[in-house]
Amino acid sequence: MAVEILSPREQDKLRRACLVAAQTLDCVRRKLAAGISTAEVDRWVREDTAARGARPSQLGYHGFPAAVCTSRNAVVCHGIPSSTEVLRDGDIVNVDVTSELDGFHGDLSETFAIGALSPEAAHVVDVAKRCLDAGIAVVRDGARLGDIGAAIESLARREGCSVVRDFGGHGIGRRMHMDPHVSHTGVANTGLRLRAGMAFTIEPMINLGAPAVRVLSDRWTVVTEDGALSAQFEHTVLVTRDGCEVLTRLR
Ligand code: MF3
Ligand code: CO
Ligand code: CO
Repeated sequence: MAVEILSPREQDKLRRACLVAAQTLDCVRRKLAAGISTAEVDRWVREDTAARGARPSQLGYHGFPAAVCTSRNAVVCHGIPSSTEVLRDGDIVNVDVTSELDGFHGDLSETFAIGALSPEAAHVVDVAKRCLDAGIAVVRDGARLGDIGAAIESLARREGCSVVRDFGGHGIGRRMHMDPHVSHTGVANTGLRLRAGMAFTIEPMINLGAPAVRVLSDRWTVVTEDGALSAQFEHTVLVTRDGCEVLTRLR
């Protein structure tokens, strides 16, 4: 597994791509509401990404038919926007934006609450957010990949939730998906040693029920097998000597 160390120049290009993706997700955040269809979210992402001189990395990726993934309620990830899927009060929906600018990709997602949530929905969203934060908190030069999975898994368990094992984070740079695979479960002090200049995503998918998932017949939409809620948050991070830079966080 050859994991790239980005030069300062490459880091700067990645930083810009990540900022553009974060700004586009921010544009979605401001407009999302009950009554909006996920196809409208797709249109916003296409328009905003183009206005920033970037390209939606996900559009056409292995044939993915949209510019953004919209994953609602029991959808774990890779939900396809649709004009017939209208957001309703009490829904949770993850919006995952990946943008390519000047040859580099930035990738982030957030699970949004539509109106007032049930306590269960609020809990899984809160735990997913804290799991991402817990993963980010252990990243630094010299730490190991297993430290990230261990931190996420122990928090999720403590909160009565489970961690999806079938999908993980990924290295990112000149391609959207690169080495290493970043598992959201694992054992501390095992796996690849992180080095300053590596860039990857952390994107835990946290379920209220069991961790098992299945893919619908559209061959993209991933849902929980038991139909229980799932939430996810994602950032692109750059490893530094004493921590990491969260490149997709708006400053
Ligand atoms: N942005 C997603 C991720 O976090 C990639 C989804 S691939 C797609 O890795 F083709 F479904 F868009
Ligand atoms: Co990703
Ligand atoms: Co993503």
